Amino acid sequence: MQTSEVSKPIARIDDVALSFGDRVVLKNCNLDIVEGAITCIIGLTGAGKSTILRLLDGLLLPDSGHVYVRGQDICHMSEEQLNVVRKKISLSFQFSALLDSLTVGENVALPLREHTRLSEAEIRRAVADALESVGLTSAYDNLPAELSGGMLKRAGFARAIVTGPELVLYDEPTTGLDPIVTNLITDTILRLREKLKGTAVVISHDLPSIFAMADYVAMLFEGAIIAYDTAERIRQSTNPIVVQFLEGAEVGPIPI
Ligand SMILES: Nc1ncnc2c1ncn2[C@@H]1O[C@H](COP(=O)(O)OP(=O)(O)OP(=O)(O)O)[C@@H](O)[C@H]1O
Ligand SMILES: [Mg+2]
Repeated sequence: MQTSEVSKPIARIDDVALSFGDRVVLKNCNLDIVEGAITCIIGLTGAGKSTILRLLDGLLLPDSGHVYVRGQDICHMSEEQLNVVRKKISLSFQFSALLDSLTVGENVALPLREHTRLSEAEIRRAVADALESVGLTSAYDNLPAELSGGMLKRAGFARAIVTGPELVLYDEPTTGLDPIVTNLITDTILRLREKLKGTAVVISHDLPSIFAMADYVAMLFEGAIIAYDTAERIRQSTNPIVVQFLEGAEVGPIPI
């Protein structure tokens, strides 16, 4: 579903189809990502949510359809052009993939070393700033193995936001974390949005966390976005698929 002219999309998935071998993951998939808002994508395990994030970051190409970022079709770009777009987008992975042999500070510095020509002092300052914004100031010199699961996630966020991206894509930021750390991370995403004045797309299965942060919610089902609206209207949706998903009911139109 696409938003009206009132709200401007920073990114758009336009009639995308994508299969892996015989497995059709997306078909007729349309989604607008509204600038400055937090959009949460919900859907069953294996529905294709992470695939959507990889499309938005140009890591995957659709079989047909288009993916636009700031009005530019990123599906037909050279690697060089894509790298320019990628500087504005940051993907925080489902499993926060820090390099074990580097300290947290060095891990967070990686995108700056790769994409910028900042001096060592500037890098140090930017990394300290990013770690501070996720409440991890004291972890600068720790190795990832010394951090808890929640701290690792937040270190992954710090790395994702250190370049000041316009669009941050979070893949399951709270999965497997206790309720207190989940709240902390939800607050962190909200705070980072304020700090960056940017846009976020969050994939989550955690309904309280979703409704605490989402401006818009999109539900992916059988390859397409079958419901898209403000969080409040999705919460009150009468669409039987959305209702069953939100209630976690075993009986309904979703085959289990
Ligand atoms: N590179 C790949 N090669 C083959 N199949 C893939 C590949 N990536 C994803 N798939 C398949 O595509 C489907 C959608 O995967 P995806 O990871 O996008 O789902 P998801 O909604 O993120 O699921 P989860 O909630 O479990 O993270 C799954 O059936 C998965 O097995
Ligand atoms: Mg996934």
